[in-house]
Amino acid sequence: MTAARPVTPSTILAHELAELSALADGGADPELAARLRAATALAAGLEPYLGRCTTPESPALAALARRTRERDWAGRAGDGVVVALEQEMLSGHVEGQVLRFLVHATRARRVLEVGMFTGYSALAMAEALPEDGEVVACEIDPDVARFAQECFAASPAGGRIAVRVGPALDTLRDLAGAGAPFDLVFVDADKAGYRAYLDAILDGGLLAPHGLVAVDNTLMQGEPYLPGERSGNGAAIAAFNEAVAADPRVEQVLVPLRDGLTLIRRAGS
Ligand SMILES: C[S@@+](CC[C@H](N)C(=O)[O-])C[C@H]1O[C@@H](n2cnc3c(N)ncnc32)[C@H](O)[C@@H]1O
Repeated sequence: MTAARPVTPSTILAHELAELSALADGGADPELAARLRAATALAAGLEPYLGRCTTPESPALAALARRTRERDWAGRAGDGVVVALEQEMLSGHVEGQVLRFLVHATRARRVLEVGMFTGYSALAMAEALPEDGEVVACEIDPDVARFAQECFAASPAGGRIAVRVGPALDTLRDLAGAGAPFDLVFVDADKAGYRAYLDAILDGGLLAPHGLVAVDNTLMQGEPYLPGERSGNGAAIAAFNEAVAADPRVEQVLVPLRDGLTLIRRAGS
């Protein structure tokens, strides 16, 4: 099992400060060293504190997160492996709890997830649904979809999750007009696809009139607001954020939770 890399603005900042602080402890001005230690403590303490102040995750979610950490993602091979995956993709305890709150706040019965990975966010939302609620979870990689379904089988709420394997845009097109719209949609798949997913959701009648769309990783490690060259994901998220900000169909807020979570609703609904 390898330790998770820092992949959010606050954890990257904490990591950088810790390294600078260690350098300063090696002989810099004592006041600079002390201030860097204090800045490191401020940044590094945030995420653990959020976790301590948040309702604990269920045993099923804890087991799913543990299994995800223990799996050798780099050495993954065989049938059904489609994309490069890593343990850092899992949303986790605090974000899972936020998603549960969104299920309750929207009184959701039908939830759509675009990008399931090992199923942490799908299961967190399923646990918050009423008995007859449903999460439809889209995932392109059959291997990780099987892994998630094994985890769901160990949870009473797992039966509320219907997994759709394949490119999410195809699934969204299949779902458009087939069945009731969704009260809550969580978008967390390939970043280059985000604009097409939002258009498919809004134009395909997939969002209930008072529905909410939550889009993950919209801070993308700070790339959209940092100077310098962007990665492919950074450029895709920067363009997505600009398009949403200019889109008269919606109103939105970018919440600095983990790697950024943008909440979107239809304007005037
Ligand atoms: C960041 S992970 C999702 C994490 C998950 N929501 C969670 O909270 O644990 C992104 C997932 O999207 C999947 N994905 C990437 N491109 C996709 C596509 N075109 N259609 C459906 N799923 C896709 C990847 O295989 C990966 O499992």
